[in-house]
Order: sequence, then C-alpha cells, then structure tokens
Amino acid sequence: MNYNFDEIVNRRGTFSLKWDGGSFIKQSGLTERYDEETIPLFTADMDLPVPQPLIDALHKTVDHRIFGYTIFPQEYFEAIQHWFKKRHDWDIKREEIIYSPGTVYALNVAVKAFTNPGDGIIIQRPVYPPFTSAILTNKRELLNNALKVDDDGYYHIDFDDFETKAKDEKTKMFILCNPHNPTGRIYTVEELRKLADICERNGVIMVADEIHGDLIRRNKTFIPLAKAVEKADHIITFTAINKTFNVAGLHCTNVIISNPELRKTFTRVLGYHLPSPFTVAALIAVYNEGEEWLEQLKEYIDGTMEWVVNFLAERMPKVKVRIPEGTYVMWMDFSGYGITPEEVHERIYHRANVLLEDGKLFGEEGLHYQRICIPSPRPLIKEAFERIAREFEDVN
Ligand SMILES: Cc1ncc(COP(=O)(O)O)c(C=O)c1O
Repeated sequence: MNYNFDEIVNRRGTFSLKWDGGSFIKQSGLTERYDEETIPLFTADMDLPVPQPLIDALHKTVDHRIFGYTIFPQEYFEAIQHWFKKRHDWDIKREEIIYSPGTVYALNVAVKAFTNPGDGIIIQRPVYPPFTSAILTNKRELLNNALKVDDDGYYHIDFDDFETKAKDEKTKMFILCNPHNPTGRIYTVEELRKLADICERNGVIMVADEIHGDLIRRNKTFIPLAKAVEKADHIITFTAINKTFNVAGLHCTNVIISNPELRKTFTRVLGYHLPSPFTVAALIAVYNEGEEWLEQLKEYIDGTMEWVVNFLAERMPKVKVRIPEGTYVMWMDFSGYGITPEEVHERIYHRANVLLEDGKLFGEEGLHYQRICIPSPRPLIKEAFERIAREFEDVN
C-alpha cells in the first residue's frame, strides 16, 4: 500500500497536545503566543497517519465493544522479539521484556530503583529535557558529560571527561540517549563499547534510551547498546512503539533487562501495570506488519530533511544545520546571526508564529539552537520555514 504523507490531517479538536494544548503550552513557558494560526512543530509526535494494519487492529478492538482488564498474550512478546531480531539482529528473551506505560516513567523508575538521593548520574547535554528532570526531581546529582560539537556541527563524546565522572565514587548511573535527541548522533559500536567498558569497570549502571532507534536515515545503521557489547549485565534498554509508529498516546514502552537481579529490582519499583487492549493490539500489529509503512515513512522524512537543508542554505545561510544520522528532529544553530537567543525566539515564535523548542531547554549548550520536529506533511514544513525565513530577511 502507498501512503500519502503529504495529506494534511486536521488534528485540532482531537485533544492533541500539539494542536489543542494552547493553555498548557503557554503555562509551560515554551511560548507566549499560541493561536489558530500557530504551526506547532515542537513536541516529538508526527502529523502523519499510522500504518493501515494498526488502524485495522484498533478497529477490531473497538468493534468488540468491551474494554476490560487485559493481559499480555504470547503474541505480544513474540512480536517484540521478531521485530528486534529482524530489524536490529538483537535476540531478546521473553523474560527480559518488561512493559512500562511510558519511557519517561520508566526512566524515573530506573533512577529510583538503582540510585539513592545524592548519587551521581551522568547525562550528555544538550539532551532531551526529562533526563535532567529525572535526576533533579529525584534529588540525585547531575553530572554533565557535555557533548562536543565540531565546526561541521557534528557531535562527539568527551571520553576523558566521561571517565573522570564515571570514576567518582558517587556515580552510579549513566543515561544514554541513542540515537541522540536532539543532536541526531547514532553512536558507533566502538563508541558504545568504550562507554560500556568504562561503566563496567566503575560499577556504573547504563540506561539506554533507544526509542528513536528505528527512525534513522536510510543510509545509516543503528546498533542497540546491549547488542554492541559482549556482556549486557549492567544495561537497561528502553524501546517503544511510540516514536516509530506515532502512537505516543497509547503509552507503550518495553524495557529490556537481561540481568535477573536488576530486573527484579526494576520490576519491584515499577509495580505491576496491565496494558490497555488498544496498546496490545497496536504493538502486535505494528511490529508484525508495520515494516512497509516504516520504509515509506523513512524515505519521506529523508526527503523533507534534504528539502530543509537546501532551503536553509539558500534562504537562511547563517543557520548551521546538518542532516541527523537518526531521530526525526533537526537541531539548528542560529548563532551565525549574531543576535540574542531572545531575539531569535521573538522572530520565530511571535512574528512567524511557528512553535519550535528553544535549545536552552536541552541544556546551556543549546542556547543558540532551535529544535524542530520534521515528521509533518511537507507542505506544512515548507510553510513554517517560509514564515521563519521572512522574519530573518533583514539580518541575512
Ligand atoms: C529520547 C526520548 N525519550 C523519551 C521520550 C518520551 O517517551 P514517552 O512518551 O514514552 O515517555 C521522548 C520523546 O520525545 C524522547 O525523545
């Protein structure tokens, strides 16, 4: 089946955070302007229709007319095992899979389960903001192994700093984001092994948030951390259908832990969560029958990213941007304009009325950056960039 991702599906009036969440968005401080004309391209969900097999599976669940307590059938686990074997050559055992009603939720559970107040946790900023809040709201110490950006806008790990931080007695955990949101890096096997080796030698548990792992450029490969290393005893991996198949509203994260002791501790703090019948039906459908859609989606996203890079080169040459290896976000450096981040914000959010995410939310390293989520119909992305470009004409 051919999907038409150019089609604009009106999401207003569907309780969408992106399209109906004005007061919440203003309260959270993302922007002061939000109205009928706003183009919201901030939070990471897609304005694109999902795979047909998923829609069929959900229809079938609705048609049954009863939505009671639901179990995890064998097919649920088989679908996960099948997907990760086929797509990432990763063998996952049935007992290693733990359902969580969300990834950020699982992250907070991991922090509580494996560290104590005052313990150090390493993250690599700029990074997805809930990593920071999971550490600070749980009163752990944030250790920032900041990523280093080179002149080409490519991000690198500072291994010396990482090792120094890992060696500190109070350091108990490292939260890895791979593919990395917002920089788009996919770490190589060598980088992953080096990080894992340092963590293992220093008794640091690794939490790998890999929920963007299926959304990579067509010429790139993603290797899960637990697959890259010889022993995954100190690794906890988050996988999810929410980003890959645009079902964030169905709350379906699967945590993979091969070490039985860690699994026991994590499960104890997590508690027992039954799934919704929609979640079970969705996961089975997408992991068994979603591949054709995903390949088309990836082609579409790659095309949009190419369009963005060309557009910026032509119309806003002072913006530094590169096509990310993974994720569907683009991380744009506005420092070339020589204006303050506040003025960049004013021009984009107020005047152009496009809602992105200010880079400072990802850590101070992101001060001059803007993050945009790209998986929307291309006509919408084009309009957003046209509007933004117009507001920067006088400083080009
Ligand atoms: C790296 C990363 N982890 C977690 C999440 C959120 O996942 P969930 O909605 O399952 O909590 C996002 C959403 O953008 C993300 O980018």
